[in-house]
Amino acid sequence: MCGIIGINSSKPVSATIINSLKKLEYRGYDSAGIATLYDGSINEIKSEGRVDNLEKSSLVKNMEGTVGIGHVRWATHGLPNSINAHPHSSQNVSVVHNGIIENSTLLKKFLVGKGHKFKSQTDTEVIVHLITENLKTENIVDSIKKTLKSLHGSFALGIIFKDEPDLIVGARRGSPLAVGYGPNENYLGSDSYALKSMTNKITYLNDGEFCIIKKDHVEFFSEDGTKINKKVLELSSEEEKYDKGDFKHFMAKEIEEQPITLKNGIKEYIDTSNNDINIHNFPWKINEISSVTLIGCGTAYHSCLMAKYWFEELTSLDVNIDIASEFRYRKNRFKKDTLYVFVSQSGETADTYAALDLCIKNNMKTCAVVNVIESSIARDSEFVLPIHCGTEIGVASTKAFLGQILILYILALKLGSLKKDIEKKTFIEKINDLKELPKLIEKTLSLDNKIQAVSSTFNEAKGSMFLGRGFSFPIALEGALKLKELSYIHAEGYPAGEMKHGPLALIEEGMPVVVLAPRDDYYKKTISNMQEVIARGAKVLLITNKSKDEIVSENIWETIEVETTNEDLFPFLLTIPLQKLAYYSALKKGFDIDKPRNLAKSVTVE
Ligand code: M6R
Repeated sequence: MCGIIGINSSKPVSATIINSLKKLEYRGYDSAGIATLYDGSINEIKSEGRVDNLEKSSLVKNMEGTVGIGHVRWATHGLPNSINAHPHSSQNVSVVHNGIIENSTLLKKFLVGKGHKFKSQTDTEVIVHLITENLKTENIVDSIKKTLKSLHGSFALGIIFKDEPDLIVGARRGSPLAVGYGPNENYLGSDSYALKSMTNKITYLNDGEFCIIKKDHVEFFSEDGTKINKKVLELSSEEEKYDKGDFKHFMAKEIEEQPITLKNGIKEYIDTSNNDINIHNFPWKINEISSVTLIGCGTAYHSCLMAKYWFEELTSLDVNIDIASEFRYRKNRFKKDTLYVFVSQSGETADTYAALDLCIKNNMKTCAVVNVIESSIARDSEFVLPIHCGTEIGVASTKAFLGQILILYILALKLGSLKKDIEKKTFIEKINDLKELPKLIEKTLSLDNKIQAVSSTFNEAKGSMFLGRGFSFPIALEGALKLKELSYIHAEGYPAGEMKHGPLALIEEGMPVVVLAPRDDYYKKTISNMQEVIARGAKVLLITNKSKDEIVSENIWETIEVETTNEDLFPFLLTIPLQKLAYYSALKKGFDIDKPRNLAKSVTVE
């Protein structure tokens, strides 16, 4: 993952670099570092852990220099410590890197043979020494060109040179990189978001391109070193302000914001006066589409799985779903009549982007369901359906998940109605139910006490299971993922009907098992599966909906009842208690809820 920043200015840059690094921490928070050019040499300061640690260092406070680069790291090669933190420097060159150099072992061997001494365990350090080596015979542009040619893998790079007091080089292959323009200063950043407090004038580098950033102008080059002209985009200059308000964590705030997420989505896509769906400028005719493939990673993949159930219910389209890291390497049979939908909060997830890129190269129809509309996935997809949930800071995706499934549900309804697969009356009923959803979510959010109480049992257990059938199965997977990533408790999401094919062997006395069983078509079957786990000693937390019908089962440990709605919409309501369960369980354990260990908000390496 990792975030990079570079500033070439006439004023000291270290404080501004630190501020931008704080914005980039969503990309990695193992360690951070900064390097500036001062008094004819490269000064480098690095520290383990968060940017706060780096900021506290008295060395940074006194750091001089008007040209500098900075980095936040998510470790790929080598432990997350200050030696492996970036920048990595030789006497002449300093580099920050996001990505992975796949041939670093071979390159290192070659460079050691040439007398270069390595200090870290990282793949990045080979780039420093390669440039240093190439500079012995080449000028800056040629040494960069030659170095990039030798590298296999992915990278976004920021590079400064001891002997070039007015120059930063940026280069990109695979990992995103943006250039920003300011008054008598210019910038380099992993994304426009990191540069937003400085500028809204941005140029995005394409794969293979590199650039030379001087104080007063920027030059761009294609892979072969030819100078190219690039467009300057003017993005919205509004800088979103976010704080936790009265909440202890961003995640808690983001969970509570979900009624607003849904209201925003409904306002954007539902024509309430005509009971219709607005999807403006949809670039294809409906008879050009006979199947849909939905692709994402992690929580976004769960959104795809959720959507599969809705698309199959509401449309006659064939529906496939795929995990992006699998899709990108499989022998896919691309079909002209398939709509490929890429689901991503950040819009920067490397595997999802690679899957999109593959579809673009095969001239497929591509549609992005994303939150960050300035992201790579949004920019490069043919059509974009924004989620409109506002910035999500917590690493665990919450409001973006609800936003994604809302948009996918609306898309399924729209395509179903265009294909005449849904009767007008049913379509209108479903739209009316959707309009009520934010209120139902608000009510579900108040079910706090019980969830807080049961979370201790999950914390004491060796592991837990989340079971559901049909529409509830993707939510079971999502609930298990949330608990794993926040509380570091082993949790498995499973289709309830699959338990007796193996996982039932895991159930032992006192094991907490969440069973999702709203009163839908699957209810009776799920209740039978629940009885099977209770009979083997499981402590079942049943999440169902309010109903006058009694639950015909004994020995249920705890029951949580959400509101009642049409069965398509239960998944939205069931998600809330599961998000809260993970939150309270991590809170009791005292873990870092917004930045769980080993993770990052945006996964920009494959
Ligand atoms: O930004 P994206 O939606 O593409 O991210 C995909 C996953 O990395 C993400 O959903 C991840 O699984 C979350 N941390 C889960 O809470």
